Amino acid sequence: MKSVSIKNNNIYATDPETEGLIESFDLNMAPPMEEPMRQFYYIAKVRKYVDELANKLGRRPRACSVAFGCQMNARDSEKILGILKAVGYEEWESEDAEFVIYNTCTVRDNADQRVYGRIGYAGGLKKANPNMKIAVCGCMMQENTAIEKIKKSYRQVDLIFGTHNLYKFAELLATMFESDRMVIDIWKEGTDIVEDLPVSRKYAFKSGVNITFGCNNFCTYCIVPYVRGRERSRNPREILREVEKLAADGVKEVMLLGQNVNSYGTGLPDDERISFAELIREVAHVEGIKRVRFMTPHPKDLSDELIQVIKEEPVIARHIHLPLQSGSSEILRRMNRKYTKEAYLDLALKIRRELPDCAITTDIIVGFPGETAGDVDDTLDVISKVAFDNAFTFIYSKRSGTPAANMEDQVPEDVVKEQFNRVLSLVQETARTRSTLWQDMDAEVLVEGVNEQDDSLMTGRMSNNMLVHFPASSDMIGSFVKVHLDECKGFYYMGHIVE
Ligand code: SAH
Ligand code: SF4
Ligand code: F3S
Repeated sequence: MKSVSIKNNNIYATDPETEGLIESFDLNMAPPMEEPMRQFYYIAKVRKYVDELANKLGRRPRACSVAFGCQMNARDSEKILGILKAVGYEEWESEDAEFVIYNTCTVRDNADQRVYGRIGYAGGLKKANPNMKIAVCGCMMQENTAIEKIKKSYRQVDLIFGTHNLYKFAELLATMFESDRMVIDIWKEGTDIVEDLPVSRKYAFKSGVNITFGCNNFCTYCIVPYVRGRERSRNPREILREVEKLAADGVKEVMLLGQNVNSYGTGLPDDERISFAELIREVAHVEGIKRVRFMTPHPKDLSDELIQVIKEEPVIARHIHLPLQSGSSEILRRMNRKYTKEAYLDLALKIRRELPDCAITTDIIVGFPGETAGDVDDTLDVISKVAFDNAFTFIYSKRSGTPAANMEDQVPEDVVKEQFNRVLSLVQETARTRSTLWQDMDAEVLVEGVNEQDDSLMTGRMSNNMLVHFPASSDMIGSFVKVHLDECKGFYYMGHIVE
């Protein structure tokens, strides 16, 4: 986490306009009721507590923000870090810090287990650092069982909040500093979307942009609709304003984020409503934006209009992540996915025809209740017909509260493992074959960072989301270069810059 979005000399890293508002408050007055002004008031208030701590320590207190889960959570953690810096913390990579916050994911059980492990670890550090505060937020905190477990077994935690009240983080920090007990604030549902709070981006050159929050699809295996609430769309003008601001700040690539981006627009007033295809076209036209990605479209809603817009707008990345989940129409029906094997194949093959250089990647779940070897054969059939460029394969994880958790015929672990391996080896094979297609071509590449193994090489990402490593210097990070793809190494390339 190197870069800060707003480059100026104030230690809080807020932009001048926000800074003016924060400094304008008389803290003897009651906090304003409207947002985001209320949070700016609390930022001013929390600065006093952080200053006191800084005086005690003889240096600025440090804050470490850890995100688990999807891009949505990663983006939320940038908002969290934005507030932490605005109140005067210094960003810190490790949990050896005065404030540690875990933004949790609960999509599968192993995500939950990782979180408990880390809270335990932070508790150990807190014993040696009495100034340390520990906070836990995000999807897992929307579940009662998780809250009960933390209350009982992880008393070292100072602050817990959920997904719906993240915008009140500054206010919650004030409560935490004024309380000597564990502060817990969880809301059942989301309210209006609050704009214009500080954000501290992980990358200077690329950024996620929320377009919808929540999900209305209720796939029967999935916990997300319960922990993220009903689907709400952000106003298109606010989205474009944010993208323009990001572009002015040097961002070249944006990723539009939502659990089902194609249903963008539902819930907006009639005179503001536009389709996802219209929105992405407008985003692609924002000056300075060189690449636009999106995550995740739902196969049931992916329109011809969208395929056409991608075709016409070279700025939109040649990559569609199109979660399959299962290739069996019967399993899909019981998953409540609202498409059949045939409908998925028609769509994926249409994309292959219309956008031949577009990568199609997917998510697959193995071991959904009642899944037979025959159902997995159908999944394998779809994999070989579409020839996915990449796929994430997950073992079904029972989430309590979801309809699938109560279904009969939960598949035994050893059977799941065996079927999982069949799926995994076929997706690896198709991904390898698809990867070789770009051999000896030139690709537009966004240079993202220094190669992890060899620092004379830079790593860049092609429009189709594949990585390529090539000799270059680190001042090229954040710029677009043309790279010749010399050698395919399975799932990535080695190359050299041609211009
Ligand atoms: N909204 C997106 C992503 C949701 S979560 C979509 O509809 O695809 C990301 C992935 O996690 C899903 O695509 C699914 O493959 C997987 N997933 C969700 N719930 C799961 C569960 N209970 N067990 C295993 N994998 C799950
Ligand atoms: Fe979960 Fe389905 Fe919503 Fe994706 S579309 S978040 S899988 S309920
Ligand atoms: Fe996990 Fe929440 Fe994302 S459950 S996958 S972090 S929406």
